[in-house]
Amino acid sequence: MSTPARKRVAVLVSGGGSNMAALIAAAADPAFPAEIVRVICNRPDAGALAKAAAAGVETVIIDHRSYSDRETFDAAVDAALVAAETDIVCLAGFMRLLTPGFVEKWRDRMINIHPSLLPSFKGLHTHARALEADVTLHGCTVHFVRAEMDMGPIIVQAAVPVIDGDTAETLAARVLAAEHRIYPQALAAVASGRAVVDGERVVHTGGGEPPAAFVWPPA
Ligand code: GAR
Repeated sequence: MSTPARKRVAVLVSGGGSNMAALIAAAADPAFPAEIVRVICNRPDAGALAKAAAAGVETVIIDHRSYSDRETFDAAVDAALVAAETDIVCLAGFMRLLTPGFVEKWRDRMINIHPSLLPSFKGLHTHARALEADVTLHGCTVHFVRAEMDMGPIIVQAAVPVIDGDTAETLAARVLAAEHRIYPQALAAVASGRAVVDGERVVHTGGGEPPAAFVWPPA
């Protein structure tokens, strides 16, 4: 029996690119159901660019400051995705809001990682806000992207306990380690067709381990 073709994935980044690096590392395994074909970055000075290049992944810079509005910027990103024959888009610390038309075009083919247990703490400064709210469990979420910010059917979540004495920085570091674990899991589930959207919920089907919610670090 022939192996199904690996899905072609483009990763959109704005910053350091540690989640992007985790996806590239996972996809280095030929058994992983996706390959990272292109990294698209909206900031010419982002650390992600050198990391992607070092891993041999093609990079494209689309500087949002060169575009007069969100529609023309998104059209340029869309063209770069289409040119790379992209099947799945992964947002990995991509800090631009996307227009509803762009999101609709990539509906159920675009996923995002967010550093909180959604629907809690959408938006920025999630770790400081979690500490301020005095929650005992924080975490991260990979979800399909919808036009509303940090909304959409949830694929995988990891819960991260808040520890006495945590600062936003120590909590962020612990959550980031969990992000690096769940993003490849979620991408594998989507790329292999094991995680599909059905009525705005994700249904996990087929063989293999379903990517369950888990607590990080493991006991
Ligand atoms: C990650 O924590 C990611 O979840 C977050 O930005 C960081 C990027 O780090 N994304 C968002 O806040 C999006 N709403 P990285 O560049 O090292 O992957």
